[in-house]
Amino acid sequence: MFPLFENTVINGMNLRNRIVRSATWEGMCAPDGRPSSKLADYYATLARGGVGLIITGYTFVRPEGKQFTGKMGIQTDDFAPDYQRLTQAVHAEGGIVAIQLVHAGGQANPEQAGRQPLAPSAIKVTQFPAEPAELNPAEIQEIVAAFGWAAGRAKDWGFDGVQLHGAHGYLINQFLSPLTNRRTDEFGGNIENRCRFMMLVYRQVRRIVGNDYPVMIKLNAKDHLDGGLNQADACYAARLLDKAGIDAIEVSAGTAASGEKGPARKKIIAPEKEAYNLELARRIKTEVACPVMVVGGFRSYDVAQKAVNQDKMDYIAMSRPLIREPGLPNRWLRGDRSPATCISCNKCFIPGMKEGGIYCVLEKKERQKKERRS
Ligand SMILES: Cc1cc2nc3c(=O)[nH]c(=O)nc-3n(C[C@H](O)[C@H](O)[C@H](O)COP(=O)(O)O)c2cc1C
Repeated sequence: MFPLFENTVINGMNLRNRIVRSATWEGMCAPDGRPSSKLADYYATLARGGVGLIITGYTFVRPEGKQFTGKMGIQTDDFAPDYQRLTQAVHAEGGIVAIQLVHAGGQANPEQAGRQPLAPSAIKVTQFPAEPAELNPAEIQEIVAAFGWAAGRAKDWGFDGVQLHGAHGYLINQFLSPLTNRRTDEFGGNIENRCRFMMLVYRQVRRIVGNDYPVMIKLNAKDHLDGGLNQADACYAARLLDKAGIDAIEVSAGTAASGEKGPARKKIIAPEKEAYNLELARRIKTEVACPVMVVGGFRSYDVAQKAVNQDKMDYIAMSRPLIREPGLPNRWLRGDRSPATCISCNKCFIPGMKEGGIYCVLEKKERQKKERRS
């Protein structure tokens, strides 16, 4: 029996339970990506809530890899004190925090990124805001190097690990997917070539942080798009990473163009709608030796516990439930096992775009209503 609340270790990183806060953009940073004290407080609250591992919102490694407003950036040494405050705030609450590193590639927003987006191929697919320019080999190497510097900074500044964002249609995923990668050089074509960018990034990060530091990845097990990354190719990518020494794979699926099968599906209001990436994650689990995390629609204790205990998932990851209830892990630990109150409406994105930070819009409305009544 593998209980949800059990101590585990990932390459020296001690985790108090098997619940992970999946990366969640908060929209709380300055335009250059400098994290705010509001963001540090936000992470301290998450740590206080009892989650085993916090993975930060996606953090751009180079300015042209920026997508949403208020996104974290780690492209410069200048942010050292700000990030040190953030990691110290988490550690002071007994939390553990890994940073998610990303380059948005063709999904970058030209207004936020300050230039035409860069992508494996100069093709505008549905979820790209503009036609990107094709990355040349020198630019590819610069981005690979930037991932390495970013990981080195993260380690120096107190992060307990890093997670590469290889999911949801961002640059690593764009290279993996035949839909966005039409290259005819060594980075395109068969799956071995389409994995090349991801492996260069992984190896560069590993070179910089060393073997005794957790390097994880969030990987799409399927894009749910005609012509996109399929399950067999995703399994190939997972095996490659595993052999190269990745410390954990978080399984997700879909991109912003995948409609109802996007990464953050709506209306997860019954147990049968939960855990919508579990089957894909079970498949990945059979292919690799490293720990597997699964994200997507976990809302009830029983579904989470079953995924760990019966389906042999090493970790379950959640995003939206912890926006509404950062204290959910401790609530479950204390014995109140009622499901997360998140209704998966995705309205939390709106204040992230317009009000300088995400929060649960519904919870705020309900709270205000109660306050007016009393
Ligand atoms: C507001 C918001 C921001 C998100 N930001 C990120 C992100 O920065 N990186 C990432 O990998 N996924 C991001 N996601 C996706 C979540 O990590 C997760 O994969 C998805 O929401 C499904 O999990 P859930 O049902 O527990 O919310 C975000 C989701 C939401 C709702």
